[in-house]
Amino acid sequence: PVQHGADGVPLIHAVPDDVQADRERLYRLGPVTRVELPGGVRAWATTHHEVSRATLTDTRFVKSVDHWADYQNGRIPEGWPLLGTIPLDNTNMLALDGAPHRRLRQLTASPFSARRVERLRPDIERITAAALDALEPRAGEPLDLKSEFTFKVPMSVIGELYGVAESEYSQLGEMYAKLFSGDMADGEHLQIYGALFQFFGEMVARKRAEPGDDFTTDLLNAGGDGDVEALSDAEITITLLSVVAAGHETTVNLLTNAVRALLAHPDQFALLDQGKVTWEAVIEEVLRYDPPNNLMMFRFATEDVEIGGQTIREGDAVLTHYGATSRDRAEFGEEPHPEVFDVTRTRGRHISFGYGPHICPGAPLSRLEARIVLPMLFERFPDLRLAVPDEELRVESALSVNSLSEFPVVLRP
Ligand code: HEM
Repeated sequence: PVQHGADGVPLIHAVPDDVQADRERLYRLGPVTRVELPGGVRAWATTHHEVSRATLTDTRFVKSVDHWADYQNGRIPEGWPLLGTIPLDNTNMLALDGAPHRRLRQLTASPFSARRVERLRPDIERITAAALDALEPRAGEPLDLKSEFTFKVPMSVIGELYGVAESEYSQLGEMYAKLFSGDMADGEHLQIYGALFQFFGEMVARKRAEPGDDFTTDLLNAGGDGDVEALSDAEITITLLSVVAAGHETTVNLLTNAVRALLAHPDQFALLDQGKVTWEAVIEEVLRYDPPNNLMMFRFATEDVEIGGQTIREGDAVLTHYGATSRDRAEFGEEPHPEVFDVTRTRGRHISFGYGPHICPGAPLSRLEARIVLPMLFERFPDLRLAVPDEELRVESALSVNSLSEFPVVLRP
């Protein structure tokens, strides 16, 4: 694709020709660059570590679209596909800052502490084993590992946790995939958002009538004592919508990208086989090398801010480019080069789970899922191979979520 708009502003494509090369291109433009997104929407992208961390912790940048000048002035087309990834209401923790944000984090994120999550290990093992069993009959023929496995496990885990019925996973999965793809007809995201809101709203009403042993019921009971006001039904509904989205859409890509990276780098895989590196190290390197979210989420400047040699004007949108940031020499050094997948890397810490007050509360759960699912997959199918050459794998989107359209493999060639 063309890399610059008519007036020379670098373009960010939903589907770049080469995702890895695109990260390097954007890193080199950094640390902060004016960019144009699909649909002609302009924003600033932070593409180096220091400046990304600085914007993610600077209170002059906020999440509410009330501060986005282009949005308020009607310059964002109504059907702009990426609107699906920007929360537009102030009941969502992703859209709040300061004390209201802290309240929602406090009331909703406790199920995700590393200790609590560790107790889910047997459930994740059971779900993974069942998903692997289901693959057995077709192990000798090409199948799409993404739709048949790496999507199913995180969806089942998050679905069970919050008490979603299994029969609804695939319908939910399809709606979310569309919402995040950035590939929608005008206004379609509003329609999908409405359908999701209705789905989770009905679930909240059902759980109020019949409490269950799940995190949704925990949310209904959270707060309301002492100073912390309990969650309203609208807040619970939007929390479910976000958490279920985040709980499967991103972890799918962590699992898929991990299998892909290991198959493409047999020398690195061998280190794992020989016990020279841990799965934990491999998972962290995958998160850096091929982040499950390539870029996002927007912040908006509440005043003019000088940062990274640029002046970001009040009302401008800023996004974090996790993919480009993960190429930063200042953070990861020159050797091994950040472009290389190297599971023995010791220098630098990725920010693929975000940074600052909005840092991902689901990180322990995702890490645990990857830690369980990946070894179980390769133990069951040690000869797992790609069914097409790696270069032929197609990217569905490399925007808010960085995902392949399909991941064709043969499990037992
Ligand atoms: C926030 C990445 C899995 C729930 C975030 C943010 C990132 C991220 C980068 C910060 C967004 C920002 O700064 O605006 C990831 C990745 C995952 C993952 C890479 C998997 C590999 C999960 C899971 C859950 C989850 C499993 C829930 C079960 C959330 C929520 C937020 C969030 C609720 C919003 C937090 C806030 O705004 O305060 N995630 N996430 N994520 N994530 Fe995750």
